[in-house]
Amino acid sequence: MMMSLKKILLYITVAILPFLLAAGILINNKQKEEIGLHDKNAFRIASTHQRQWDTYINKTINALDTVSILLESSSGINEKDKTELFLKKLLLQEQMYGGIYILDSAGNRIAGTDRKIEEMAITQEEYVKTSIYTKDTTVSNKTEYLVNGQKVIGIAKPVLDDDKHIENMIIAFLRVDYLTNIMEMLTPKDNISIINEDAELILNINEPIKQNSTTIELPMDSLPWKIVVEQKDINIQKILYKNALLLFIFLVCFHLLYFVIILYMHKKQAEQENKENELQKLELVGNMAASSAHEIRHPLTGIKGLVQLLGEKHTEKEDQFYFSIIQKEIARINEIVSQFLILGKPTEQKKQPIDIKTIVTELKPLIVSEANLFNVECHFEIAKKKLLVYCNADQMKQVILNITKNALEAMENGGTLTIKLKELNNRVSITVYDTGIGIPEKELKKLFEPFYTSKNSGTGLGLVVCRRIIQSFDGEIYLSSVENKGTKVDIILPISANL
Ligand SMILES: Nc1ncnc2c1ncn2[C@@H]1O[C@H](COP(=O)(O)OP(=O)(O)O)[C@@H](O)[C@H]1O
Ligand SMILES: [Mg+2]
Repeated sequence: MMMSLKKILLYITVAILPFLLAAGILINNKQKEEIGLHDKNAFRIASTHQRQWDTYINKTINALDTVSILLESSSGINEKDKTELFLKKLLLQEQMYGGIYILDSAGNRIAGTDRKIEEMAITQEEYVKTSIYTKDTTVSNKTEYLVNGQKVIGIAKPVLDDDKHIENMIIAFLRVDYLTNIMEMLTPKDNISIINEDAELILNINEPIKQNSTTIELPMDSLPWKIVVEQKDINIQKILYKNALLLFIFLVCFHLLYFVIILYMHKKQAEQENKENELQKLELVGNMAASSAHEIRHPLTGIKGLVQLLGEKHTEKEDQFYFSIIQKEIARINEIVSQFLILGKPTEQKKQPIDIKTIVTELKPLIVSEANLFNVECHFEIAKKKLLVYCNADQMKQVILNITKNALEAMENGGTLTIKLKELNNRVSITVYDTGIGIPEKELKKLFEPFYTSKNSGTGLGLVVCRRIIQSFDGEIYLSSVENKGTKVDIILPISANL
């Protein structure tokens, strides 16, 4: 129950939430990207038309300027026919004009491309009035209709005499249908409107999008008008659809991560259970052994004494040999029993800060004399500084003796034993090297299993006891070895705070 709840929580935090987060970030970024592109596109469309319109207006103003120069240079009305011919030519050349006319100062037509203007109260038009008033070229703020139904935009230019009085007025009409056609040709699909100063619609291409749309506005240079481009809003569904593969990959990746974590957790759990089982087993064996160890020791002492007595009685060589074997075996039983005792209750011993150096120094004569028996040379490299460790002196001695004993037993044909003691990263490091037979790689992981031994007379408890003791001092013990070269035992212990 707990496990499945844990799994659900893990699933949410490892697979679901990160996926949603990643998907959110991705979609958000893509949306921003699309909006950017969208705006850029709308801006490009608007500026295309802006340029186009500015060209038309400027062209018309230039044409009106030309006509005005023509008027000024000719003696006006006298050369009416010539002027009219010029205007008609202009109209033929530029289809965008609905008509061009010249009026006198009273507003009567004196020349023009046709007679359409005669029926219009042209001088009443706002832009003409403004032009008269400002004495400057003025573009109409509205569209108007010519008599033939053509929708046009008027442009008025006054022609002044030397006294700056209005002599003539030139009026040109720009055809809205023509301009609309050009716009439609340039950008047939887009929804574009031209809005005048009073926010009135001058013209539009395509029907406005009613919902979910955004607009971009660009003012015209030659007029106080705006070009408005309307575009559909970005569709999230479309973005999702476009990025479906990427989202799917995200989903798979986060699920893979989840499964890897679950696998790892299962492995860890199994390891933990194994470890606990091992510990329990060891503790059970230890407890049983410890409780019976004393019971074994007493009769053993009796046997030992009696065998000794018998040995004094039977002095024959053969009998002596048998007695020595019995004594050796009794010693072995004794050793096993002692180690059982430690395994049973390793933590019961009192701990205190002890200088490891003193322990090693005290053991030195014992180790050297043992080594001599094995024809082994001993080296001691001991740091000068005090190396205080919170431990129990007897147990610490037991560890060092167990390890040196193993090392000596591995060097039956002689060799070198090195014991190093130093401070390492604020911890005490005890290292024992030998140049013995070493340990095959596949045996290495069995070393700390109770009763694992490669020796005929071994107990297989020495290293187990060592680790038990070192762990009770919050330390660690490692073995590394190369077959036929030698073995290194590393013991790392925390330095006692009680310095
Ligand atoms: N220095 C060493 N060199 C070679 N083998 C070693 C060394 N130390 C330990 N071993 C191996 O580890 C085994 C277990 O050691 P230990 O627990 O002390 O039990 P025992 O010494 O009674 O066999 C030994 O039998 C031996 O195979
Ligand atoms: Mg041993």
